[in-house]
Amino acid sequence: MIRSRLLGSGSALPKRCVSNAELAAQVDTSDEWIVERTGIRQRYIAGDDETTSSLATAAAKAAIADAGIEAGSIDLIVLATATPDNTFPATATKVQHALGCNGGIAFDVAAVCSGFLYALSTADSMLRTGMAKRALVIGAETFSRILDWEDRTTCVLFGDGAGAIVLEASEAGEGADSPGILTSKLHADGAQHDLLYVDGGPSTTQTVGHLRMKGREVFRHAVVNLAEVLKETIEDVGITADQIDWVVPHQANKRILDATAKKMGIAPERVVVTVDQHANTSAASVPLALDTARKDGRINPGDLILLEAMGGGFTWGASLIRL
Ligand code: ACO
Repeated sequence: MIRSRLLGSGSALPKRCVSNAELAAQVDTSDEWIVERTGIRQRYIAGDDETTSSLATAAAKAAIADAGIEAGSIDLIVLATATPDNTFPATATKVQHALGCNGGIAFDVAAVCSGFLYALSTADSMLRTGMAKRALVIGAETFSRILDWEDRTTCVLFGDGAGAIVLEASEAGEGADSPGILTSKLHADGAQHDLLYVDGGPSTTQTVGHLRMKGREVFRHAVVNLAEVLKETIEDVGITADQIDWVVPHQANKRILDATAKKMGIAPERVVVTVDQHANTSAASVPLALDTARKDGRINPGDLILLEAMGGGFTWGASLIRL
C-alpha cells in the first residue's frame, strides 16, 4: 500500500518578538493575566517586509533542506492560511515560484486554526491516489494584520509564523507500525460561525476585517470537539491513547491543551507545548510545534504522533502519523 511519509520539517518566525510586558505598555492588560489565562509569554509579529508568503517560503526551504531533497522534485504544494498575501492568487503559487518548482499543483486551503490538518489530509489523499509524489504542506499566517489592537480580549492571544513539512508517497506495510500518515479525521460545524470569525471580506465589506471571538464559548466547544475527534482517530487505527508518543496540538491556550489531554488520559509530558513562545499562530501552530519538537530531539523517527486542531467555522480535525 502507499502511505504519505514525512521526510522533513521546517519553520520560520518574524524577526520581532513581542513580550507580554511590551504589549501591556500599549493595551490594557498584564503579563500576569495573559500567562495565567493562556500560558502565552511572547509572540512574533511580522514587520513591513514580512508576509505570509515570505514566512511560508522560509519554512518551506528549511523543510526541503531537512528532507535532503531538491526543491524541483516537489509536485504538490498545499498551503493553509486565513491571512493570504492577496485575495487571489493562492499564496501557495507565490511560494511555488519562490522555490522554483513551477508546474506542479499549488493551492491554498482555508480552515483557520485547523487549516494545517485540512491541508495535510488533502495532500495525503492526493499522494495516495497518485496525483503527486512529493508534497509540501505549509501552515503560514500573519494574524497580526487582522487583529483589532484595541480589543484586549483577542489581540494578546495571537502571533505570526509558518511551519512546513515534506511528504512523500512511499510503499508501506499494513498496520500502525509502518511509517506514514495512518489516518485523518476532519469535521466542521457552520452553525458556530458567530463564535469565531472575521468581520470583513471581499464579497461582504470589501475590506479585510478584524478577528472577533467569544473566547469562553470557543474554549468550551474546543475541549469537547477535540476529545471526540481524538477518540475517533485512535479507534480508527485500533490503538490506545497510551501508545501515542507525542501529541502535537494546535497551540491556542495552555488550559485547552491540559484539559484535552486530561480528558483523553494522555500524560501532560507527552504534549508538545509552544504556545508560551509563539502564542496562537492559527494554521502555522501545529507545524511550528512539530518542527520545534523534532529539532530539539523530543520527537524521533519511529514515534507515533497525534496532530490535532480546532478553529473558526468551527472546523476541527486530527491525524495520526508514524514517523
Ligand atoms: N487583559 C486583562 N484582562 C482581560 C483581558 C486581557 N487581555 N481580556 C479579557 N480580560 C478580562 C475580561 O474583560 C473579564 O473581565 P470582567 O470579569 O471584569 O468582565 C475577565 O478578564 C475574564 O474574561 P473572560 O473572557 O471570561 O476570560 P477567560 O478566562 O474565558 O479567558 C480566553 C479568555 C483566554 C480568550 C479564553 O476564553 C480562551 O482561551 N478561549 C479559547 C480561545 C481559542 O481557543 N481560540 C482557538 C481558536 S482561534 C482560531 O481559530 C483563529
